[in-house]
Amino acid sequence: MGRTHEPPRLPEGGFAAWSRDRLAVARRGADECGDVWQLEPGVYVAATAEPCEAVLRRAQDFPKAPSPLFPPLKRSNGAPTPEERAHAHAARMRGLRAQAVAARTGEIATGVARFADCWPTGQDVEILPPVRRTLAEVGVRYLFSEDAPTLLPFASRLFLAREVLVRPSRWVWPRWVPTPARRFRTRQQVAFTDALRPIVRRRRSSGRLGDDVLGQMLRPSSRHGPLPDEAVLDTLPGITVATFETPSRAAGWILLQLARHPRAADRVAAEAALLPADPAATTSTHLDSLHYTQAVVREVLRLHPPSWLLTRHVRRRTQLAGYTIDAGSTVLVCPYTAHRDAREHPEPDRFQPERWLDDTGSPAEPGAFLSFGTGPHGCEGVALAMAMLTLLTAQTARRHHLSEPPGPEPGYQVTTFEGLATVGLRLRATSRS
Ligand code: HEM
Repeated sequence: MGRTHEPPRLPEGGFAAWSRDRLAVARRGADECGDVWQLEPGVYVAATAEPCEAVLRRAQDFPKAPSPLFPPLKRSNGAPTPEERAHAHAARMRGLRAQAVAARTGEIATGVARFADCWPTGQDVEILPPVRRTLAEVGVRYLFSEDAPTLLPFASRLFLAREVLVRPSRWVWPRWVPTPARRFRTRQQVAFTDALRPIVRRRRSSGRLGDDVLGQMLRPSSRHGPLPDEAVLDTLPGITVATFETPSRAAGWILLQLARHPRAADRVAAEAALLPADPAATTSTHLDSLHYTQAVVREVLRLHPPSWLLTRHVRRRTQLAGYTIDAGSTVLVCPYTAHRDAREHPEPDRFQPERWLDDTGSPAEPGAFLSFGTGPHGCEGVALAMAMLTLLTAQTARRHHLSEPPGPEPGYQVTTFEGLATVGLRLRATSRS
């Protein structure tokens, strides 16, 4: 049974081809080599559902690199301990779990409805910047409630710092080299933290901790007591950007598919017509009833996983899909190809939201879905992301028909460096009424 040799190498699939078109090489690797293949010595790609899930679940053998986007700022009492990290994670999850998100559905619906209301109709618009602004407002409000307006401008600059950092560059400098991009990142992180610190102190000293995610992080746990202020301040820059960065990438793909599939958009609009006229009155029951809209969101995330490649390291020599993988190697987990495996999803390249519904029109789980990862490092924000994206899709389709600008070339580019995103996406909205 066991394949004790190394995974196959893709002919003409080295880094030069990879840098030119990563998606094409990833697909060729999956087609020609199967489960696991070798991009170059010591760099492997898990291409199908089984090895992808195995790598993500076996976090002891395949640890995630400690590469926080916003590393802890230097402080007198050192970096957060593993206990503080576990405590901070548990505290955040109290605010991010499905029940907590459900209780704030009306607020999320109100935020995303503003995007659909403000879309200028009858002209081609570059749509990602306003999507990102809207989702930043919704996400930052979700974390910080009435303190959101103070923090929003700093959050936007954190996003810019991230953009500068992830831009592909020829040289990867060692972590300790203070490149201009890293210095810019640190300045923005310090500015955000300086704006957040007085809010944390005020909430603690007034005893009004708040019911938002920050409030949950300030509540002492029975096991660990209160989380130190610096541990709260260190985790929140990354979480703040996470609330709107990947969701905006996803929203770009969703709006593009609504434009390309008018029949699906009509069906979303029909479902959305049952939502209350006042978005603030939207409840989790309304949200849960949007089965087709949720299926559209999942289908878009299947076809265009915004985090299409997840990196893991190999701690010790191990077996993966029957192959031997040496300690010190890197494994790239590829939800993009795992989702395009016909054994998981028949006619995998077809946009077919119905595959996420059973015969009665209720939600179904037809095959692999790794857009939010899985295992110990799976996405913390699934419930928030699904609520934001489902309501944004419903509110937009309810108000507008979308179309792509005419022309032989698509009105956008695909970037695949850090995530799978549309760049410069232009769309036109015409009012349905
Ligand atoms: C469509 C939207 C989103 C997608 C597709 C997405 C996807 C992912 C994926 C694939 C991972 C796993 C990364 C890995 O295993 O290396 C992840 C982790 C994470 N996500 Fe999301 N995410 C989304 C939205 C959000 C939101 C709204 C939040 C809000 C808090 C969030 C917070 C996080 C955090 C904190 C982690 C790190 C978990 C860990 O390392 O233990 N995400 N996300």
